[in-house]
Amino acid sequence: MGYKPDLTRDDVTPKALYMNRRQIMASAAGLMAGGIAAPALAQNELEPNTFEEITNYNNYYEFGTGKEDPAKFAHMLTTDPWSIEVDGLVDRPGTYFYADLTEGMTTEERIYRFRCVEAWSMVIPWNGFELNQLLEKVGVQSGAKYVAFETAYRPEEMPGVKFPVVEWPYVEGLRLDEAMHPLTLMATGIYGEPMPKQNGAPIRLVVPWKYGFKSIKSIVRISLVEDEPPTTWNKANAREYGFYSNVNPNVDHPRWSQATERVIGGGIFAARKDTLMFNGYEDQVASLYAGMDLSEKF
Ligand code: MTE
Repeated sequence: MGYKPDLTRDDVTPKALYMNRRQIMASAAGLMAGGIAAPALAQNELEPNTFEEITNYNNYYEFGTGKEDPAKFAHMLTTDPWSIEVDGLVDRPGTYFYADLTEGMTTEERIYRFRCVEAWSMVIPWNGFELNQLLEKVGVQSGAKYVAFETAYRPEEMPGVKFPVVEWPYVEGLRLDEAMHPLTLMATGIYGEPMPKQNGAPIRLVVPWKYGFKSIKSIVRISLVEDEPPTTWNKANAREYGFYSNVNPNVDHPRWSQATERVIGGGIFAARKDTLMFNGYEDQVASLYAGMDLSEKF
């Protein structure tokens, strides 16, 4: 499978092109049963980054720590066939082939702000389905309070895992209410294309109000658990990375400010802008954290 960008850096009006493309997709979807559903929450005025930007400036440490390493090396990952182990406190545990687990899901396009903990940001048009659909499919049992996720660990296909930059496999977690929230996406593509490997093919999490590292790529295991699960960056440095990792301009990273962000793209006119509480999704998610001290639970 070759993921060829059809938009390049030479496109000076990515939005206009994209809108055109969306119209084409919308009419194609109209012809398909179970096509792409209506646009979702909070995406109206967002101007997406180009396909080129989204696929050439990545964090995926399994393929190296350089921003261009994933674009260079992620082609080595075999993503078909792909299966996901679902275990823990669920009614229907088991090994699900990707196609079986994603069958019948309502797939939508969601344009989300994406804010990395390194204080840069992009706007990404994802395709995917709400994680809550998948959780309903497997049947969450009443004792489950958290969802744990795990990325594939394949030394022969992932040149970065020979370096102990973090503990492998990469793991992440959400509280069950965060996982059930309609903004929380299982993303299976961008710009209407299957997920590029550097972005976490074939399926990755996207949690738009949290720093980017929560959005774990190339998921092979989903576990419903009672206790707060370990997370890769918290294990690596608990002082700098908490379990919640909500985007919060008022809580600095110990080594840099989180008050502003560098917007990727736009060449020499690249802008810096103020970071918004919960990355701009405050109205939708603030209630999840009512009564919590977010400087302590960072
Ligand atoms: N998932 C895995 N398995 N390995 C990683 O190194 N990096 C995280 C997150 N998910 C990472 C990961 C970080 S730090 C960010 S900012 C986002 O992926 C980047 O996603 P993108 O490359 O699609 O923009």
